Amino acid sequence: MDIQAFALLVFLFTVGIRAQFQPAQPCDREKCLPPDCRCSDDRKPPGGLATRKNSANYHGHFRDDLQKQYLDLYNELLEEVHNPNNCPAVGTLFISHNYTSYFLVETAYSKGFETADHTVTHQEPTTYWQDADYTVWKDEIFGQKEILHRFGNIPYGKITGFRAPFLMFTENMFKALHMGNFTYDLSWPAQIKFDGHGPCTPTRWTTCRLRPVPPLYKPCPKMSYPGLWEIPNVNLMNKDHSTCGSMMDACDPLGNATAWYEILVRNFHYHYDTNRAPFGMHMHPSFFSWGPAGDHMNAAKKFLKYAQDLGDVWILTASQVIAWMKDPQDVDQAKSFPPWQCPARPEPRCSSSTVNKCHYTEPKDFYMDTCTKPCPPHFPSPTDPDGK
Ligand SMILES: *[C@@H]1O[C@H](CO)[C@@H](O)[C@H](O)[C@H]1NC(C)=O
Ligand SMILES: *[C@@H]1O[C@H](CO)[C@@H](O)[C@H](O)[C@H]1NC(C)=O
Ligand SMILES: *[C@@H]1O[C@H](CO)[C@@H](O)[C@H](O)[C@H]1NC(C)=O
Repeated sequence: MDIQAFALLVFLFTVGIRAQFQPAQPCDREKCLPPDCRCSDDRKPPGGLATRKNSANYHGHFRDDLQKQYLDLYNELLEEVHNPNNCPAVGTLFISHNYTSYFLVETAYSKGFETADHTVTHQEPTTYWQDADYTVWKDEIFGQKEILHRFGNIPYGKITGFRAPFLMFTENMFKALHMGNFTYDLSWPAQIKFDGHGPCTPTRWTTCRLRPVPPLYKPCPKMSYPGLWEIPNVNLMNKDHSTCGSMMDACDPLGNATAWYEILVRNFHYHYDTNRAPFGMHMHPSFFSWGPAGDHMNAAKKFLKYAQDLGDVWILTASQVIAWMKDPQDVDQAKSFPPWQCPARPEPRCSSSTVNKCHYTEPKDFYMDTCTKPCPPHFPSPTDPDGK
């Protein structure tokens, strides 16, 4: 897509936006059925599957700039586990731009990782996102999708997921995601209610029943976004059922391998023993550097082995989870479910010795590694994602 076409599409969206959105209506469970709909207050396993027949799944999420030392950690975490159909265990990378190597983006994609959008700048403070108008969100979201495609060679159609910086979701953000044809958002922290029904499950964005988690002030979006799914970021909980954190690194950061293994196994069982809502492992790379050296990696690896050995647990990307929500499969069917087959992906177009190392001094000292040649004249930004 050249820059004119990109700008033109953006323009059309901006014009269309006012008339496009309808207020969300209360969800009618009789009418709201898969594959197109699921009420946000429905905590039963989808498709009428009995809980025990429901194939449990886990999805791993890693976020921020993609650099070599981080990809190495993710590979180490997942290399010894596989899925019940023998396909490799993979996760979703939510990628923002500044220090990302797009050669590594291509490399991760070729191994089966999902690449998702985490905005171009991921800048502070959080109020930047809270106050951002539609155009700011659109440039940040569409811009990063374009950068991932142009410099990481990811097909547009494979960039379908988004996570807001600091989980700062807003109505304008949902509007931009909807206009950009995204399939899912993963920015909404949710508590587990210990009432026997289990955690909330991914939901189609037609109603607003998920409640934001205090103390963050987040106005609930009011519009309907047909086609867009919300995957709740189910918080990790302490033993007394208080919230521990929405990301793994926020929880007992100095805890050792014993403490961390216990946290993961216990929280996983809140899902596995109830409605089998997908269990998300949301982590920054910093998770692996807290606590005694190597302990968090050891705990997470031991936990994944434990989950794998249960026999009906899958380690998946977020978009594979959505595919299952639309078309629920039981334990037996899951092995032949097409969206869960091993992905056939192209090799990266270059290697670490042939990668193009682009250097910029504006807006400050930045390096951008990409297999694409030549280097774009400018460092890509939200309003100039191609760096023209
Ligand atoms: C990324 O770079 C932009 C441009 O220099 C800057 O505004 C932004 O704050 C940076 N983001 C982070 C997370 O450092
Ligand atoms: C979104 O989908 C519509 C309908 O298929 C298409 O016309 C439009 O170009 C798509 N927009 C983007 C940003 O991909
Ligand atoms: C982890 O810490 C706890 C106490 O904080 C201790 O009882 C336990 O032995 C430690 N485990 C390891 C493997 O060091």
